[in-house]
Amino acid sequence: MKKRLLTGLQPSGTLTLGNFCGGINQVYNYQEQYDTFLFIPDLHSITVTQDPEELHKKIKEVVGLYLACGIDAQKTHIYIQSENLYHANLSWILECHAYFGELSRMHQFKEKSKNKENFTCGLYTYPILMASDILLYDAQVVPTGIDQKQHVELARNIAERFNNRYHGNYFVIPEPLIPNVGAKIRDLQNPEKKMSKSTSNPKSSIFLLDEEKAIRKKIMGAVTDNDASIKFDEENKPGVSNLLTIYSVLKNISIDETVRQFSGAGYGDLKKEVANVTIEKIMSIQEKYHEIMSSNVIDDILDEGRDYTVKLASEKYETIRKAVGLGR
Ligand code: TYM
Repeated sequence: MKKRLLTGLQPSGTLTLGNFCGGINQVYNYQEQYDTFLFIPDLHSITVTQDPEELHKKIKEVVGLYLACGIDAQKTHIYIQSENLYHANLSWILECHAYFGELSRMHQFKEKSKNKENFTCGLYTYPILMASDILLYDAQVVPTGIDQKQHVELARNIAERFNNRYHGNYFVIPEPLIPNVGAKIRDLQNPEKKMSKSTSNPKSSIFLLDEEKAIRKKIMGAVTDNDASIKFDEENKPGVSNLLTIYSVLKNISIDETVRQFSGAGYGDLKKEVANVTIEKIMSIQEKYHEIMSSNVIDDILDEGRDYTVKLASEKYETIRKAVGLGR
């Protein structure tokens, strides 16, 4: 039997090149090898305020982008988190097995709540919902970028604690799957930070639905350094290393090979080539995206994904509910 792989990308904005490299592209590369679950974590998106109409639109946009990036609905179960009530139900049980202290250590929570007078309880407990998404399906591997590794480790800890407390193999212990190259695509204007969907500066991120002109402009304007030598050194040359990383992922070649290809070149040449490969990739995704959005395949795929996963999730939830002593 194939091992099970699961991941999801929040519909809280248009997906970025970072989401492509750390998320979708990994699923694309692994979908033959694993029994693959790729869902839309819409419940996660409301941990911060969303415009309901916009969120609604983004959910289908994300599904369209999954398919346009080559995810094959015949091989991958695609479904919406909020259409399956067991995610939130299991999350509550897991909340009662997770500690305030361990959630307080989550980097993403610390970052997102920094200097905020008010933030939701959901923003704080969100990693438990993520654990529920993973543990509900006995996922063995969880491909993500580096920013989600700590959350997958929390899911492991909760699963181990639960299994020990109730003396059984109730949950499979999931492994994070972090790509060697592309686990943290950086913000083009501030390469210390990761590229993000929810940036306030549109020049910082390449979105998968950006126009060709905008992509070229953003990459040509990417912040680099004054050293003028093309080297891969994430600590001292994060901007240049980021461009090399993007090229390496999109061309599917190693970082060493990428650096070799640009030996003796200037930053202008590097940016031009990175812009070309990015445009080529994104334009081909967009062409498929528009085709998919004008057909009516999405609802059928989501119905099928929902029916399949609700059945699996209900069985798991029943087992867990009984283990804890709930119900009759
Ligand atoms: P999200 O929506 O922030 O990101 C989706 C995926 O993209 C990766 N990613 C990046 N990879 C490389 N460089 C970047 N700059 C970059 N930005 C984002 C993320 O690591 C992720 O793989 N909590 C999750 C969604 C989620 C989930 C889950 C994932 C909910 N439940 C269960 C896996 C399993 C999130 O907010 O990802």
